[in-house]
Amino acid sequence: MLTHRILKLIKKYKYFTKEELMLALGMNKSMIDAIINELLQLGYISKIDKGLYRYESHNDLSQLNEFLSKLNTRIHFSSLYFYTVSSTQLIARDLSENNCPEGTIVIAEIQTKGRGRHNRSWFSPMGGIWMTIILRPNFPPSIIPLMNLIVGLAVAKAINNEYNVQALVKWPNDVIINDKKVCGILIECSLKGNLIDYLLVGIGINANNSIPPGIDGISLKDVLGKPILRIPLIMNLCKILDHYYSLLVDRNAHELPRVLNELKLLSHTLGKEVLIVLDSGKHIRGKATDITLSGNLVIFINGKRLEVAYHEVKKLTYL
Ligand code: BTN
Repeated sequence: MLTHRILKLIKKYKYFTKEELMLALGMNKSMIDAIINELLQLGYISKIDKGLYRYESHNDLSQLNEFLSKLNTRIHFSSLYFYTVSSTQLIARDLSENNCPEGTIVIAEIQTKGRGRHNRSWFSPMGGIWMTIILRPNFPPSIIPLMNLIVGLAVAKAINNEYNVQALVKWPNDVIINDKKVCGILIECSLKGNLIDYLLVGIGINANNSIPPGIDGISLKDVLGKPILRIPLIMNLCKILDHYYSLLVDRNAHELPRVLNELKLLSHTLGKEVLIVLDSGKHIRGKATDITLSGNLVIFINGKRLEVAYHEVKKLTYL
């Protein structure tokens, strides 16, 4: 029901009434009621008074770039906004191939072909945060497992800072609240020689979107009982990610164990009995006891220690 035209229209108002919207869109009262209801549910507007609504600029992703330009981070973040795309990963790949700078964020209201790990599809309706951050660390690809961990940690910390909830990280990087997935991360890489040319850090956060039955997830709106403002969360995430990324690319080796400890404190996986299905088809059952500095999960199987690397893993479930 909500279209790009409607979103563009409400942006023009700071405050508006139902009657003004009816006039501007040339729609009848029941259609306008449905639109206002959807806008409220998704957090694009809020109700100020009987019949008076406010446009929420802090939830308007098309304004993100203005906020990012004020950030004083090492990564120079900037954003490119789309109403609908197939996948932000694909747009980001094209941009990266054409030399776009580190810190470019491709963000969309809707993805029609959102992709998850192992070529699973990623449900990406309106209201979520679907974005890809382009990074260009001058490193060999062996850094990717650690990147996976710090992105998951940064998302969990940003959520916890903003909303005072307990988001945890399911190894390697799913972010979980109340045992359900609130965020998935997909990191893709392109090499030049032996070094990374660019990393596409795809982040999908169930923010104000509803989760249909059959999809195992939870949205922040459902956790908090009201829609969130997406821009403050993204800003917080960029600042935290920038901090961890700087430690990593500066090879700040003595800081990494501290980062790992932070991750362990927020781990949803450690201490649990897990079943891991490897890409090879092999199944591993054991207790997850540790995460190593190279990002591997340590499993104990009948007293025997085994390290599992994230790129070998197709699926991890709890027993
Ligand atoms: C997973 O848990 O399998 C990873 C999901 C990653 C989804 C994000 S949404 C933004 C970016 N664009 C995509 O098509 N996928 C990632």
